[in-house]
Amino acid sequence: MKKVLTLSVAVTALGLSTVIGFADADDDNLVINDELEMITETAAPAHMEWIDTIYSGWRFRTDETQALQIDDFDNPAMLTVDVALDAFSKVDGSEGKSCASCHAGPEEFAGLTASMPKVIDGKLVVMEDLINGHRAEVMGAEPLKWSGQEMQGMVALIGLQSRGMPVDVAIDGEAAPFWEQGKEIYYTRYGQLELSCASCHEDNYGNMIRADHLSQGQINGFPTYRLKQARLISKHNRFRGCIRDTRAETFAEGSDEFRALELYVQSRGNGLSVETPAVRQ
Ligand code: HEC
Ligand code: HEC
Repeated sequence: MKKVLTLSVAVTALGLSTVIGFADADDDNLVINDELEMITETAAPAHMEWIDTIYSGWRFRTDETQALQIDDFDNPAMLTVDVALDAFSKVDGSEGKSCASCHAGPEEFAGLTASMPKVIDGKLVVMEDLINGHRAEVMGAEPLKWSGQEMQGMVALIGLQSRGMPVDVAIDGEAAPFWEQGKEIYYTRYGQLELSCASCHEDNYGNMIRADHLSQGQINGFPTYRLKQARLISKHNRFRGCIRDTRAETFAEGSDEFRALELYVQSRGNGLSVETPAVRQ
Protein backbone atom coordinates (compact mmCIF):
# COMPACT_ATOMS: atom_id res chain seq x y z
CA MET A 1 0.00 0.00 0.00
CA LYS A 2 2.99 2.24 0.44
CA LYS A 3 3.17 2.98 -3.26
CA VAL A 4 -0.48 3.97 -3.47
CA LEU A 5 0.08 6.29 -0.53
CA THR A 6 3.02 7.94 -2.29
CA LEU A 7 0.73 8.71 -5.19
CA SER A 8 -2.02 10.17 -3.02
CA VAL A 9 0.47 12.45 -1.31
CA ALA A 10 1.77 13.55 -4.70
CA VAL A 11 -1.68 14.14 -6.06
CA THR A 12 -2.63 16.14 -3.01
CA ALA A 13 0.49 18.20 -3.59
CA LEU A 14 -0.82 18.90 -7.08
CA GLY A 15 -3.91 20.35 -5.46
CA LEU A 16 -6.14 17.70 -6.90
CA SER A 17 -8.66 15.43 -5.41
CA THR A 18 -7.87 11.80 -5.76
CA VAL A 19 -10.24 8.94 -5.77
CA ILE A 20 -8.44 5.70 -5.26
CA GLY A 21 -10.89 3.16 -6.55
CA PHE A 22 -10.15 -0.24 -7.89
CA ALA A 23 -11.70 -0.38 -11.30
CA ASP A 24 -9.44 -2.47 -13.46
CA ALA A 25 -9.43 -2.78 -17.22
CA ASP A 26 -12.94 -3.43 -18.51
CA ASP A 27 -13.97 -6.62 -20.33
CA ASP A 28 -14.76 -5.15 -23.74
CA ASN A 29 -13.35 -6.67 -26.94
CA LEU A 30 -11.92 -4.45 -29.62
CA VAL A 31 -12.93 -5.54 -33.11
CA ILE A 32 -12.27 -2.85 -35.71
CA ASN A 33 -14.61 -2.41 -38.69
CA ASP A 34 -16.40 -5.62 -37.64
CA GLU A 35 -13.50 -7.72 -38.87
CA LEU A 36 -10.13 -6.95 -37.31
CA GLU A 37 -9.79 -8.59 -33.89
CA MET A 38 -7.30 -6.85 -31.68
CA ILE A 39 -5.31 -8.30 -28.80
CA THR A 40 -5.94 -5.83 -25.96
CA GLU A 41 -4.93 -8.20 -23.14
CA THR A 42 -2.22 -10.83 -22.97
CA ALA A 43 0.44 -12.35 -20.73
CA ALA A 44 3.18 -9.88 -19.87
CA PRO A 45 6.51 -10.42 -21.62
CA ALA A 46 9.04 -12.39 -19.56
CA HIS A 47 11.20 -9.35 -18.82
CA MET A 48 8.43 -7.67 -16.78
CA GLU A 49 8.85 -8.48 -13.13
CA TRP A 50 5.86 -6.86 -11.45
CA ILE A 51 3.00 -7.30 -13.88
CA ASP A 52 1.42 -10.58 -15.07
CA THR A 53 -1.03 -9.28 -17.65
CA ILE A 54 -0.68 -6.39 -20.04
CA TYR A 55 -3.61 -4.34 -21.33
CA SER A 56 -4.07 -1.84 -24.09
CA GLY A 57 -4.97 1.66 -22.92
CA TRP A 58 -8.23 1.22 -24.88
CA ARG A 59 -9.52 -1.06 -22.10
CA PHE A 60 -9.38 1.81 -19.59
CA ARG A 61 -11.37 4.30 -21.62
CA THR A 62 -15.06 5.11 -21.43
CA ASP A 63 -17.49 3.41 -23.83
CA GLU A 64 -17.87 6.70 -25.67
CA THR A 65 -14.15 7.06 -26.32
CA GLN A 66 -13.79 3.36 -27.12
CA ALA A 67 -16.51 3.62 -29.76
CA LEU A 68 -14.49 6.12 -31.79
CA GLN A 69 -11.85 3.47 -32.43
CA ILE A 70 -14.21 0.67 -33.43
CA ASP A 71 -15.05 1.97 -36.86
CA ASP A 72 -12.64 3.86 -39.10
CA PHE A 73 -15.45 6.17 -40.25
CA ASP A 74 -15.74 7.42 -36.67
CA ASN A 75 -12.00 7.58 -35.97
CA PRO A 76 -10.99 11.26 -36.16
CA ALA A 77 -7.33 10.31 -36.74
CA MET A 78 -8.18 9.03 -40.21
CA LEU A 79 -8.46 12.56 -41.61
CA THR A 80 -4.81 13.18 -40.79
CA VAL A 81 -3.87 9.76 -42.17
CA ASP A 82 -5.63 10.64 -45.45
CA VAL A 83 -3.63 13.85 -45.69
CA ALA A 84 -0.45 11.79 -45.19
CA LEU A 85 -1.53 9.41 -47.95
CA ASP A 86 -1.76 12.36 -50.33
CA ALA A 87 1.63 13.62 -49.15
CA PHE A 88 3.14 10.19 -49.87
CA SER A 89 2.90 10.82 -53.59
CA LYS A 90 3.55 14.57 -53.48
CA VAL A 91 6.92 15.71 -54.86
CA ASP A 92 8.94 17.62 -52.27
CA GLY A 93 12.55 18.81 -52.05
CA SER A 94 15.42 19.55 -54.43
CA GLU A 95 15.52 16.08 -56.04
CA GLY A 96 12.01 16.23 -57.48
CA LYS A 97 10.94 13.04 -55.74
CA SER A 98 8.07 11.81 -53.61
CA CYS A 99 7.97 8.75 -51.36
CA ALA A 100 6.00 7.09 -54.17
CA SER A 101 8.94 7.55 -56.58
CA CYS A 102 10.66 4.69 -54.78
CA HIS A 103 7.95 2.96 -52.69
CA ALA A 104 4.92 1.38 -54.37
CA GLY A 105 2.77 2.46 -51.44
CA PRO A 106 2.59 2.49 -47.65
CA GLU A 107 1.50 -1.20 -47.75
CA GLU A 108 5.19 -1.92 -48.37
CA PHE A 109 5.78 -1.12 -44.71
CA ALA A 110 3.44 -3.78 -43.27
CA GLY A 111 4.99 -5.17 -40.08
CA LEU A 112 7.58 -2.42 -39.70
CA THR A 113 5.86 -0.54 -36.87
CA ALA A 114 5.48 -3.74 -34.83
CA SER A 115 9.27 -4.08 -34.75
CA MET A 116 10.24 -0.44 -34.10
CA PRO A 117 12.31 1.11 -32.59
CA LYS A 118 15.33 -0.84 -33.77
CA VAL A 119 19.08 -0.46 -34.05
CA ILE A 120 20.38 0.43 -37.50
CA ASP A 121 24.12 1.02 -37.98
CA GLY A 122 24.65 1.22 -34.22
CA LYS A 123 21.95 3.89 -33.69
CA LEU A 124 18.57 3.39 -32.07
CA VAL A 125 16.13 4.49 -34.75
CA VAL A 126 12.45 5.39 -34.37
CA MET A 127 9.96 5.89 -37.22
CA GLU A 128 10.34 9.66 -37.24
CA ASP A 129 14.07 9.16 -37.93
CA LEU A 130 13.37 6.94 -40.94
CA ILE A 131 10.93 9.46 -42.40
CA ASN A 132 13.10 12.53 -41.89
CA GLY A 133 16.21 10.59 -42.92
CA HIS A 134 14.65 9.78 -46.27
CA ARG A 135 13.38 13.27 -46.74
CA ALA A 136 16.86 14.72 -46.15
CA GLU A 137 19.04 12.09 -47.82
CA VAL A 138 17.16 11.00 -50.90
CA MET A 139 14.64 13.80 -51.46
CA GLY A 140 16.57 16.91 -50.43
CA ALA A 141 13.51 18.00 -48.47
CA GLU A 142 13.22 19.86 -45.17
CA PRO A 143 12.76 17.70 -42.06
CA LEU A 144 9.25 17.56 -40.64
CA LYS A 145 8.64 18.84 -37.11
CA TRP A 146 8.64 15.88 -34.70
CA SER A 147 5.18 16.27 -33.24
CA GLY A 148 3.65 18.15 -36.19
CA GLN A 149 0.62 16.70 -37.95
CA GLU A 150 2.48 16.04 -41.22
CA MET A 151 5.04 13.90 -39.41
CA GLN A 152 2.62 12.15 -37.08
CA GLY A 153 0.20 11.59 -39.96
CA MET A 154 2.98 9.78 -41.84
CA VAL A 155 3.98 7.78 -38.74
CA ALA A 156 0.29 6.82 -38.35
CA LEU A 157 -0.08 5.93 -42.04
CA ILE A 158 2.93 3.59 -41.82
CA GLY A 159 1.70 2.24 -38.45
CA LEU A 160 -1.75 1.50 -39.85
CA GLN A 161 -0.14 -1.07 -42.17
CA SER A 162 0.74 -3.12 -39.06
CA ARG A 163 -2.60 -2.71 -37.31
CA GLY A 164 -3.64 -5.93 -35.60
CA MET A 165 -0.14 -7.41 -35.64
CA PRO A 166 1.41 -8.11 -32.25
CA VAL A 167 4.11 -5.73 -31.10
CA ASP A 168 7.38 -7.64 -31.26
CA VAL A 169 10.33 -5.39 -30.58
CA ALA A 170 13.83 -6.82 -30.04
CA ILE A 171 15.51 -6.03 -26.74
CA ASP A 172 18.60 -8.23 -26.97
CA GLY A 173 21.86 -7.96 -28.91
CA GLU A 174 22.63 -4.45 -30.09
CA ALA A 175 19.34 -3.19 -28.62
CA ALA A 176 20.23 -4.27 -25.07
CA PRO A 177 22.16 -1.18 -23.88
CA PHE A 178 19.44 1.16 -25.22
CA TRP A 179 16.77 -0.97 -23.56
CA GLU A 180 18.64 -0.80 -20.23
CA GLN A 181 18.85 2.98 -20.50
CA GLY A 182 15.11 3.18 -21.22
CA LYS A 183 14.32 0.93 -18.28
CA GLU A 184 16.37 3.10 -15.98
CA ILE A 185 14.48 6.20 -17.08
CA TYR A 186 11.16 4.37 -16.58
CA TYR A 187 11.95 3.64 -12.94
CA THR A 188 13.60 6.98 -12.09
CA ARG A 189 11.56 9.22 -9.80
CA TYR A 190 11.38 12.68 -11.31
CA GLY A 191 10.38 16.08 -10.11
CA GLN A 192 9.19 17.61 -6.91
CA LEU A 193 6.62 14.85 -6.65
CA GLU A 194 9.22 12.11 -6.99
CA LEU A 195 7.14 9.99 -9.29
CA SER A 196 8.43 7.55 -11.89
CA CYS A 197 6.50 6.20 -14.85
CA ALA A 198 6.13 3.04 -12.78
CA SER A 199 4.56 4.94 -9.84
CA CYS A 200 1.54 5.64 -11.99
CA HIS A 201 1.48 3.07 -14.79
CA GLU A 202 2.74 0.00 -12.94
CA ASP A 203 1.77 0.48 -9.29
CA ASN A 204 -1.51 2.30 -9.86
CA TYR A 205 -3.03 1.34 -13.19
CA GLY A 206 -6.75 0.76 -12.75
CA ASN A 207 -6.96 3.59 -10.19
CA MET A 208 -8.35 7.04 -10.81
CA ILE A 209 -6.16 10.11 -10.85
CA ARG A 210 -8.24 13.22 -11.24
CA ALA A 211 -10.90 12.25 -13.77
CA ASP A 212 -8.51 9.88 -15.52
CA HIS A 213 -8.60 6.12 -15.32
CA LEU A 214 -4.91 5.19 -15.20
CA SER A 215 -3.78 2.68 -17.81
CA GLN A 216 -0.48 0.85 -18.08
CA GLY A 217 0.86 3.64 -20.29
CA GLN A 218 1.29 1.43 -23.36
CA ILE A 219 2.28 2.92 -26.72
CA ASN A 220 0.80 0.29 -29.07
CA GLY A 221 -1.81 2.83 -30.20
CA PHE A 222 0.57 5.69 -31.04
CA PRO A 223 0.41 8.12 -32.66
CA THR A 224 -2.87 8.54 -30.82
CA TYR A 225 -5.65 11.00 -31.51
CA ARG A 226 -6.34 12.88 -28.28
CA LEU A 227 -9.81 14.31 -28.11
CA LYS A 228 -8.65 16.92 -25.62
CA GLN A 229 -6.07 18.28 -28.05
CA ALA A 230 -8.02 17.40 -31.20
CA ARG A 231 -4.94 16.10 -32.98
CA LEU A 232 -2.49 13.23 -33.32
CA ILE A 233 -0.05 13.04 -30.43
CA SER A 234 3.44 11.56 -30.77
CA LYS A 235 4.87 9.13 -28.24
CA HIS A 236 7.51 11.63 -27.17
CA ASN A 237 4.92 14.36 -26.71
CA ARG A 238 2.99 12.06 -24.38
CA PHE A 239 6.14 11.20 -22.41
CA ARG A 240 6.89 14.89 -22.06
CA GLY A 241 3.41 15.67 -20.80
CA CYS A 242 3.53 12.86 -18.25
CA ILE A 243 6.93 13.93 -16.90
CA ARG A 244 5.80 17.55 -16.76
CA ASP A 245 2.89 16.51 -14.58
CA THR A 246 5.42 15.44 -11.95
CA ARG A 247 6.77 19.00 -12.06
CA ALA A 248 10.09 17.86 -13.45
CA GLU A 249 12.30 19.18 -16.20
CA THR A 250 11.81 16.88 -19.12
CA PHE A 251 13.74 15.55 -22.11
CA ALA A 252 13.15 16.91 -25.60
CA GLU A 253 11.11 15.17 -28.29
CA GLY A 254 13.60 13.28 -30.45
CA SER A 255 16.21 13.12 -27.67
CA ASP A 256 18.26 9.94 -27.22
CA GLU A 257 16.68 9.55 -23.78
CA PHE A 258 13.18 9.44 -25.25
CA ARG A 259 14.30 7.06 -28.03
CA ALA A 260 15.55 4.66 -25.34
CA LEU A 261 12.39 5.15 -23.27
CA GLU A 262 10.31 4.45 -26.38
CA LEU A 263 12.11 1.15 -26.92
CA TYR A 264 11.60 0.13 -23.30
CA VAL A 265 7.92 1.12 -23.17
CA GLN A 266 7.27 -0.56 -26.53
CA SER A 267 8.83 -3.77 -25.17
CA ARG A 268 6.35 -3.70 -22.25
CA GLY A 269 3.65 -4.04 -24.91
CA ASN A 270 5.19 -7.02 -26.75
CA GLY A 271 2.22 -9.23 -27.61
CA LEU A 272 -0.48 -6.51 -27.77
CA SER A 273 -1.83 -5.59 -31.21
CA VAL A 274 -0.59 -2.48 -32.92
CA GLU A 275 -3.66 -0.18 -32.70
CA THR A 276 -2.31 2.82 -34.57
CA PRO A 277 -4.02 5.25 -34.82
CA ALA A 278 -5.83 4.89 -31.48
CA VAL A 279 -8.27 7.39 -29.95
CA ARG A 280 -7.92 8.55 -26.35
CA GLN A 281 -9.50 11.14 -24.10
C1 HEC B 1 15.05 7.77 -53.89
C2 HEC B 1 14.26 6.64 -53.41
C3 HEC B 1 13.50 6.79 -52.12
C4 HEC B 1 12.64 7.80 -51.73
C5 HEC B 1 12.29 9.07 -52.46
C6 HEC B 1 12.10 7.40 -50.43
N1 HEC B 1 12.63 6.19 -50.07
FE1 HEC B 1 12.19 5.15 -48.39
N2 HEC B 1 13.54 3.68 -48.90
C7 HEC B 1 14.25 3.65 -50.07
C8 HEC B 1 15.12 2.48 -50.05
C9 HEC B 1 16.08 2.07 -51.18
C10 HEC B 1 14.87 1.81 -48.84
C11 HEC B 1 15.50 0.51 -48.33
C12 HEC B 1 16.90 0.74 -47.87
C13 HEC B 1 16.94 1.66 -46.68
O1 HEC B 1 16.35 1.35 -45.64
O2 HEC B 1 17.60 2.73 -46.78
C14 HEC B 1 13.87 2.60 -48.13
C15 HEC B 1 13.38 2.28 -46.87
C16 HEC B 1 12.35 2.98 -46.23
C17 HEC B 1 11.81 2.64 -44.95
C18 HEC B 1 12.26 1.49 -44.07
C19 HEC B 1 11.68 0.20 -44.56
C20 HEC B 1 12.12 -0.98 -43.70
O3 HEC B 1 11.44 -2.01 -43.80
O4 HEC B 1 13.11 -0.86 -42.96
C21 HEC B 1 10.82 3.55 -44.68
C22 HEC B 1 9.91 3.60 -43.46
C23 HEC B 1 10.78 4.48 -45.78
N3 HEC B 1 11.73 4.10 -46.71
C24 HEC B 1 9.90 5.54 -45.85
C25 HEC B 1 9.95 6.53 -46.84
C26 HEC B 1 9.08 7.67 -46.85
C27 HEC B 1 7.97 7.95 -45.84
C28 HEC B 1 9.46 8.43 -47.91
C29 HEC B 1 8.90 9.78 -48.31
C30 HEC B 1 8.96 10.81 -47.26
C31 HEC B 1 10.55 7.71 -48.58
N4 HEC B 1 10.81 6.58 -47.88
C32 HEC B 1 11.20 8.16 -49.72
C33 HEC B 1 14.20 4.59 -51.09
C34 HEC B 1 13.48 5.78 -51.06
C1 HEC C 1 1.38 11.27 -12.08
C2 HEC C 1 1.08 10.03 -12.76
C3 HEC C 1 1.80 9.76 -14.07
C4 HEC C 1 3.14 9.59 -14.27
C5 HEC C 1 4.27 9.74 -13.27
C6 HEC C 1 3.29 9.21 -15.66
N1 HEC C 1 2.08 9.18 -16.28
FE1 HEC C 1 1.69 8.55 -18.15
N2 HEC C 1 -0.28 8.99 -17.93
C7 HEC C 1 -0.85 9.46 -16.77
C8 HEC C 1 -2.26 9.67 -16.99
C9 HEC C 1 -3.26 10.20 -15.96
C10 HEC C 1 -2.53 9.30 -18.31
C11 HEC C 1 -3.88 9.31 -19.04
C12 HEC C 1 -4.65 8.05 -18.66
C13 HEC C 1 -3.96 6.82 -19.18
O1 HEC C 1 -4.00 6.58 -20.41
O2 HEC C 1 -3.34 6.09 -18.39
C14 HEC C 1 -1.26 8.84 -18.87
C15 HEC C 1 -1.10 8.36 -20.15
C16 HEC C 1 0.08 7.83 -20.66
C17 HEC C 1 0.21 7.20 -21.95
C18 HEC C 1 -0.90 7.01 -22.97
C19 HEC C 1 -1.46 5.61 -22.92
C20 HEC C 1 -2.45 5.33 -24.01
O3 HEC C 1 -2.96 4.20 -24.05
O4 HEC C 1 -2.74 6.21 -24.82
C21 HEC C 1 1.51 6.83 -22.07
C22 HEC C 1 2.17 6.15 -23.26
C23 HEC C 1 2.19 7.22 -20.85
N3 HEC C 1 1.29 7.81 -20.01
C24 HEC C 1 3.54 6.99 -20.59
C25 HEC C 1 4.20 7.46 -19.47
C26 HEC C 1 5.63 7.36 -19.28
C27 HEC C 1 6.60 6.71 -20.24
C28 HEC C 1 5.91 7.93 -18.07
C29 HEC C 1 7.27 8.19 -17.43
C30 HEC C 1 8.14 9.06 -18.20
C31 HEC C 1 4.65 8.36 -17.49
N4 HEC C 1 3.63 8.07 -18.38
C32 HEC C 1 4.51 8.94 -16.26
C33 HEC C 1 -0.21 9.67 -15.57
C34 HEC C 1 1.14 9.53 -15.35
